[in-house]
Amino acid sequence: MINIKTPREIELMRVAGEIVGDTHKYLIPYLKPGITTKEIDSLARDYITKRGATPSCYNYNGYPGNICISVNEEVVHGIPGDRKLCDGDIVTLDICACYKGYHGDSAWSYPIGNVSEEKHYLLKHTEESLYKGLNEVKAGARIGDIGYAIENYCKEHNLGVVKELVGHGIGNHLHEQPDVPNYGKKNTGPILKEGMVIAVEPMINLGTADVYLLDDDWTVVTADDQPSAHFEHTVLITKDGYEILTKR
Ligand code: MF3
Ligand code: CO
Repeated sequence: MINIKTPREIELMRVAGEIVGDTHKYLIPYLKPGITTKEIDSLARDYITKRGATPSCYNYNGYPGNICISVNEEVVHGIPGDRKLCDGDIVTLDICACYKGYHGDSAWSYPIGNVSEEKHYLLKHTEESLYKGLNEVKAGARIGDIGYAIENYCKEHNLGVVKELVGHGIGNHLHEQPDVPNYGKKNTGPILKEGMVIAVEPMINLGTADVYLLDDDWTVVTADDQPSAHFEHTVLITKDGYEILTKR
C-alpha cells in the first residue's frame, strides 16, 4: 500500500527534510583531504541531534554508522571509519534524519579537491539524471516514467545504471512502498498521487553497472572498481509536479 500523507505528516516531513538538507550544507566545508569518514559521521550525528532529530541510519538493520559515506568505487552504504579523504576522491554522503517520527533522506556526491575530468563527468550527469527523473513526477504519472527517464539519460551518456538498489516511498518508515527503480518502461508501475512522498535516487557508475557486496555485509562497490555517484532527494508529489523536501 502506498501512503497518502496528511497535512500534519507533510509538515513534519518538511522539517525532517530541511534538517537533512541543512546537514549537507553544514558538512560541505569539512569535506577536505585528511578528514576521516568517522569524523564526518560524528559531525553529522551532532548536527542532526542538535536540530532535534535522530540519524535514521543508526542501527537500521544493525547499520553501525550515523550516515552512509561512500568513497570512489563504493556505491552505497559505506561504513564510516579511519579512511581519510584524499585529493581527487569523490565522496557520497547519504543522510537520513527522523523528526518526530518522520524521515527525510538525501544523498549527494562531492568532489574532494581536484578530481579527474571523468569524475566530473560522472558527477554532472548523475545529478542531471536525478532532475530528469524528477521532471516526470506529478500526480497521475507512473513510477516507470521516472526510471525510464533516468535510464535513458544515463545510457545516452554511456553510464552504468545500478539495478540492485532502488529509490523508495518514505514517511514514518525510512523505506515504504513503492520501490522507485532507476530503470523502467514508460506508463508502467504504480500511479503517483498527490500527497505521496518518495525518494528518487539514481546510483550511477562510470563503468559497468555491476556491483557486489563487501565482506562487511554493507558496502556495495562497483565490479570494475570504477567510481560511482549518487544523488537523492525526498519529494512530495503535488497536483502538477513535486516539492523537494530535502532542499539544500
Ligand atoms: N539512504 C539509504 C537508502 O535509502 C538508507 C541507508 S540505511 C542504512 O537506502 F542502514 F544503510 F544506513
Ligand atoms: Co534513500
